[in-house]
Amino acid sequence: MKHVYTGKTKDVFELEDGNYLLKFKDDVTGEDGVFDPGANSVGLSIEGAGKAGLKLTQFFFEKLKEKDIPNHYVDADIEKQEMKVAPATVFGNGLEVICRFRAVGSFLRRYGAYVEEGQALDAFVEVTIKDDERLDPPISNDALDMLGILTKEEYEVLKGLTKDISLVVKEELAKKGMELYDIKLEFGRNKANEIILIDEISGGNMRVYKDGKYILPLDLEQLLLG
Ligand SMILES: Nc1ncnc2c1ncn2[C@@H]1O[C@H](COP(=O)(O)OP(=O)(O)OP(=O)(O)O)[C@@H](O)[C@H]1O
Ligand SMILES: [Mg+2]
Repeated sequence: MKHVYTGKTKDVFELEDGNYLLKFKDDVTGEDGVFDPGANSVGLSIEGAGKAGLKLTQFFFEKLKEKDIPNHYVDADIEKQEMKVAPATVFGNGLEVICRFRAVGSFLRRYGAYVEEGQALDAFVEVTIKDDERLDPPISNDALDMLGILTKEEYEVLKGLTKDISLVVKEELAKKGMELYDIKLEFGRNKANEIILIDEISGGNMRVYKDGKYILPLDLEQLLLG
């Protein structure tokens, strides 16, 4: 097993069969010892965080598999906190694709002059580039094309997949009386050059509310699967 990458919340290994192994750690992002899923540095370690993240990730990827939505998932071992996935190459240095159902977070900070807090948005998709140093700036469809990160055709595929996947997650949460406000996804190209969903789908990637109250990422696993 070859070590490929040390991430903030996961370590990545290459297996002998060519697949990748994602090892979910108990480290979570945050600042000054306070958990913040949007932060760009590891703030603290919370026992059980890795397992909770992997359980949710496994649950959602199994749903996507049932619906034939292209993704990297092969299988998972919850006890070992490991997930086997198909390797992918990311776009540029990596993109984050956000799907919004309500105006909160950075969307509200940017466009607050035009929307009310919590206003409904119709599965609105936007892309940011992964660049910790530059605080993950948003990027337009035209800029992605001009900078050679993603073609216009690929952008449309990415956008469609993002909506489909986000609606699956929204539906599953709704079954337990929860509402998805927004979600952040990662994509890559597999060996066949197809665009597939990669990485994880867990509490740290989304904002979820129940009865108008924000659900903490680490409580989500219990509420959905407990
Ligand atoms: N199927 C895959 N193929 C290749 N890389 C993957 C795959 N799935 C996830 N990754 C990458 O593995 C890394 C997982 O580690 P982690 O989420 O801890 O990274 P990170 O520290 O958050 O860094 P990043 O800012 O890149 O997300 C991410 O860089 C993610 O893009
Ligand atoms: Mg990550």
